[in-house]
Amino acid sequence: MTARDRTPAAVLAAAVRTLTDAGMWAPREDAEKLLAHAVRDRAGTPRADELPLSDKELAVLDDLLARRAAREPVEYLTGRAVLGGVEVAVGPGVFIPRKHTEPLLAWGLRVLRDVDRPLAVDLCTGSAAIALAVAHARPEATVHAVELDPTALTWARRNAARRAELGDTPLHLHAADVTDPALLRGLDGTVDLLLANPPFVVEGRELPPEWQRHQPWPALFSGTDGLVVIRAVVAAAARLLRPGGGVAIEHDDDQAEPVMALLREQGVFTGIEFGRDHWGSPRYTTARRT
Ligand SMILES: C[S@@+](CC[C@H](N)C(=O)[O-])C[C@H]1O[C@@H](n2cnc3c(N)ncnc32)[C@H](O)[C@@H]1O
Repeated sequence: MTARDRTPAAVLAAAVRTLTDAGMWAPREDAEKLLAHAVRDRAGTPRADELPLSDKELAVLDDLLARRAAREPVEYLTGRAVLGGVEVAVGPGVFIPRKHTEPLLAWGLRVLRDVDRPLAVDLCTGSAAIALAVAHARPEATVHAVELDPTALTWARRNAARRAELGDTPLHLHAADVTDPALLRGLDGTVDLLLANPPFVVEGRELPPEWQRHQPWPALFSGTDGLVVIRAVVAAAARLLRPGGGVAIEHDDDQAEPVMALLREQGVFTGIEFGRDHWGSPRYTTARRT
């Protein structure tokens, strides 16, 4: 391999070809993240983006590309994911925050725009990405986050501690079951914003390997109709929100109608409508407490 073949630009082009041939749906984005990860020790080196890759860096990248081609999620390979501009650590045992959730987060932050010292809740928090993004955007907010799975909670605690070290307002993390009718009972009628990206996949459905093989099943599947946890989230929102408070729930692209119906059934919500993700698919449903 010549020095010219080892330049970051040439290595990136070859990596994109490798991932394209392997059938990845975002080969350039993945290749850029994996290359950046392979050369991460260069941080602070002058002209780091021009220096040819060393044998060690090339070997690291080859390994990452092979694992990605075998369908390991790119975020597990790099150990990081970003939501709302906030980076969280992720790895086996915790759901990887998705770009699809950005519009739900943006809606939530708009709801809080005119609220002084808001109180927000993130149900099914996983890595705590949504809760931490809210705490980062609104430093004077009080943010509660709830998670049932002990491994996910470990990631949430680690991410919350890291963000607090960086100066963000600490989260209130709860090890609890969202289906518990007494969940966060002390906050009844006081919450300004409730966000949730719960599990919503119909049990038995086959998912792409990045999810089916690698991500924790409690983060994905939710009963035979995919709505078991969403029903509990709707009930919790009816109880916890103050009048005028807002709820946004992420769901599958064919679940907007059933989720809107669940919100209507409560008889205490207004302005029930769904929002779309960056692909234009119905992805989350929102409402305000009457
Ligand atoms: C789709 S993941 C979303 C994680 C995170 N909110 C995000 O957007 O990246 C759903 C999360 O809900 C958690 N979960 C599932 N059932 C739950 C329940 N009954 N109570 C609390 N958390 C639950 C899972 O462990 C998982 O971490």
